Amino acid sequence: MNLSALLRDRFFDAIAELTEHADEYAGMVRPAADPQFGDYQSNAAMPLAKRLSRPPRDVALAIVEKLQLDDICETPEVAGPGFINLKLKESFLNRTLCGMIGDERVGVGTVANPSKIVIDYSSPNVAKPMHVGHIRSTVIGDALSRLHRFVGHEVITDNHLGDWGTQFGIIIYGYKHFGDPDQVAANPVPELSSLYRLTNQLIEYSKAKASLEGLQAKLVDAKAAAEVEALAADAALEDDKVSAKDKKKAQKSADAATRRVASVESEIASALAKIAAVDSDPMLAQCAAEHPDVADAVLLETAKLHQGDPENRALWEKFLPHCKDEINRIYDRLDVTFDHTLGESFYHDRLPGVVETLDRLGLTTKSDGAVCVFLDSFDSPMIIQKRDGAYLYATTDLATLQYRHEVFGAEEILYVVDSRQSEHFEKFFRMAEPMGMKGIKLVHVSFGTVLGIDGRPMKTRSGSLIGLESLLDEAVAAAKAVACDPERLANMSPPMDESEQNLIAEVVGTGAIKYADLSHHRTSDYRFDVQKMVAMEGNTATYIQYSYARTQSILRRVAAELDVDDLSRWAVSTTDTTNLKLTEPAERALAIALIRFEEAINGSIAAYAPNQMCDYLYETAKTYSTFNESCRVLGNTDPIVLQTRVALVYLTGVVLQQGLELLNIGVVERM
Ligand code: ARG
Repeated sequence: MNLSALLRDRFFDAIAELTEHADEYAGMVRPAADPQFGDYQSNAAMPLAKRLSRPPRDVALAIVEKLQLDDICETPEVAGPGFINLKLKESFLNRTLCGMIGDERVGVGTVANPSKIVIDYSSPNVAKPMHVGHIRSTVIGDALSRLHRFVGHEVITDNHLGDWGTQFGIIIYGYKHFGDPDQVAANPVPELSSLYRLTNQLIEYSKAKASLEGLQAKLVDAKAAAEVEALAADAALEDDKVSAKDKKKAQKSADAATRRVASVESEIASALAKIAAVDSDPMLAQCAAEHPDVADAVLLETAKLHQGDPENRALWEKFLPHCKDEINRIYDRLDVTFDHTLGESFYHDRLPGVVETLDRLGLTTKSDGAVCVFLDSFDSPMIIQKRDGAYLYATTDLATLQYRHEVFGAEEILYVVDSRQSEHFEKFFRMAEPMGMKGIKLVHVSFGTVLGIDGRPMKTRSGSLIGLESLLDEAVAAAKAVACDPERLANMSPPMDESEQNLIAEVVGTGAIKYADLSHHRTSDYRFDVQKMVAMEGNTATYIQYSYARTQSILRRVAAELDVDDLSRWAVSTTDTTNLKLTEPAERALAIALIRFEEAINGSIAAYAPNQMCDYLYETAKTYSTFNESCRVLGNTDPIVLQTRVALVYLTGVVLQQGLELLNIGVVERM
């Protein structure tokens, strides 16, 4: 049950009798911040009073008079200037809890109008090692697909692999010039990976060298500008005639100029580091000297692949399965699967058709030999075919969009992709309508960057990004240290053997990484801190998994005490409303938290924000912990109190487990 939605509907009906703009006010009902004022609260009367030019308290009283909430709440109270406070009825809570216990969906409904939704996520560029950035798309997309499916949408997941881009030009070039066919055959993944790294390093080296002169000139300019700004700021500060506001402004612009100097300096430092890394290694230095045009040569290899050059095609076909094996290992580890993996290469033959369609619609313009689509409010056009005939990322995305529309019948497509690509999406989304895909809903579910503990993008010592697999290993090891620390294990009965410990470490470790990612709002950057992720306390998967395990341990003990085999069946069969009685505040608080499960699901879906589900689970686990401290379950002699508490513990277990499952995070029965 979505209680907020239910209350909103009731408020809508009441407010509609006072204004025809009820939709603007009905949504202003929220869980109360302070339980002493009730469980829910509506602030609608204040803004509505303004519109109606009536005193807010009167409006609040008028709303209350029209409200039909008898089946849900006690008589609403009007407080202060016009707050409407609601307290849920005991009978309502009991009825709802019973409904949840007897239902395998724990009372969560399905949508009235299911939609066909394609979710495009993970989508790494293969042929280069997967790095920590890929975890965000994979984990967020996976959670969103589970959440949407759970409420009844028809979800089609599609991993739009980058299997056709420059990265293949890079390994093809690397293989042709530095590769040892025997070694590649014997050890394909590490060999291809190191060929990629080597070639890429040479490209970076040549680019860094080429950029140095320009950067140094930029630095001279930036320094000069900073000096001028600094002098102007000094003068402004000492001048009594300059207003405080203008002084501040001058200081601000001087600071900005200083920051620009620092940013150019750091660009130079990074270019110099790339150069030094090669120059300091005689083998690399020699390669660099022998391959000065590597950057262009790589593009040429890519172009040849696209044009069907037999040698490059054969190499691509030979390498691709190994690249896929590599990412599939990570997906196995994360327990992520896709309905489709239609990579960029799949659309290659459709690209000329996209350009033709846009030409026919009169949407293209030739600019400098390239085929472009100019769009209002963007400085630069969307290029769909380069002068040399090559197609671009946008062209492929347009072909993909057409395919998903025609073949999958998509009504909605979610693209779970880094926020740095937002302009790309804004641009090509605009083409849907002119291309005949009216009404299709396209959403860029964007996300921020994963940072190291120091707050900077994560790098290894050599400057490349840290591989995903080593981070998973690290998290699993950290999870083992926390969840299976000998002191905790000492109290376990029966004792925990090595294989159970390893299972816990894997579930807790991978869960920690996923949860840490999901619990931050997707658009914010976050710091990757393994110790914090696996901590037993705080907003972590570990804490929620531990809370779940506690529910199960209590249920096991109750089952033993009552001599009941299957406690869940017992809870269902013997619980009806007359057997429940919420007496303690902690019981009531837990009951309300559990009832809010559907609200959390719907909220996460509406905002494409799995972090709302995390917040919900965390709050529920904390509420459960308070309940646990004040309400004993075992050894209770009053049968109704026992029954109620067992029901609450049982439901807490189900909700925590299902909630985590929607995020694709597992649980263990004890820890
Ligand atoms: N392969 C791209 C990258 O790694 C992401 C693709 C996202 N999906 C899409 N349809 N453009 O940057």
